Amino acid sequence: MIVNKRLKEVGRLVDNNSSFLDIGCDHAFLDIYLAQDKTRNFKKIVASDNKEGPLTQAKNNINQHKLSKKIELRLGSGLDIYTDDIDTVVISGMGGRNMIGIFKAHPECLKTIDTLILSPNNYQIDVKEYLTKVGYYIEDEVLVKDSKFLYQIIKFKKGKKKYSKRELFFGPVLLAKKDDNFIYYYKRELKSREIILELLPKGFSFRKVKLKKEMKLIKNELNIQM
Ligand SMILES: C[S@@+](CC[C@H](N)C(=O)[O-])C[C@H]1O[C@@H](n2cnc3c(N)ncnc32)[C@H](O)[C@@H]1O
Repeated sequence: MIVNKRLKEVGRLVDNNSSFLDIGCDHAFLDIYLAQDKTRNFKKIVASDNKEGPLTQAKNNINQHKLSKKIELRLGSGLDIYTDDIDTVVISGMGGRNMIGIFKAHPECLKTIDTLILSPNNYQIDVKEYLTKVGYYIEDEVLVKDSKFLYQIIKFKKGKKKYSKRELFFGPVLLAKKDDNFIYYYKRELKSREIILELLPKGFSFRKVKLKKEMKLIKNELNIQM
């Protein structure tokens, strides 16, 4: 199975010997890719989705690759289908607020989930704020450039660490690396905030103050003259 750079990176962050659940598996490309990789080893692979259509597609793909003994399928929303033999949860290609909703709906599951590998499409800061509050720290972060898009992938591990606002905003690992993707990503984030600020009608003063604060933070980090 050939997968895109984003899913490859998500897969790289899944630990060997883990039992992982891929929530929102859709086509199950990630799970097939990992199950086929002979250099990797997993105790359990569970692919789940809350819709029958994607899950049927996943089942067809898994059968086509003769992996039905290696990948279990579960139909259900978020952690509704979680069992405590799973230590790692992967969610990618979903909105950040949807992800937070999934964790908030089942706080009891967080007791036995050791690792979270998340690639939220948006609200990444909210995801980092929420999970570092409820007992996870950020072990790794990656910015993946795939065609013209840049994706954030964040790996959380169980444990406590204190983060500054700056670290939560930019990501502590990304800040330490500050590579070309970081510069490209935050230049684009700055541009999008400038556009939103210009388009916002009268009023919205709270939103405008927040945007201006974030723009200042990004300009400082990128050494852009104000
Ligand atoms: C854009 S696809 C992402 C597929 C794949 N994970 C990836 O990164 O390429 C999002 C998938 O999440 C599923 N989904 C959305 N909300 C969900 C939820 N609460 N529980 C389980 N699956 C969900 C959708 O049905 C869809 O198949």
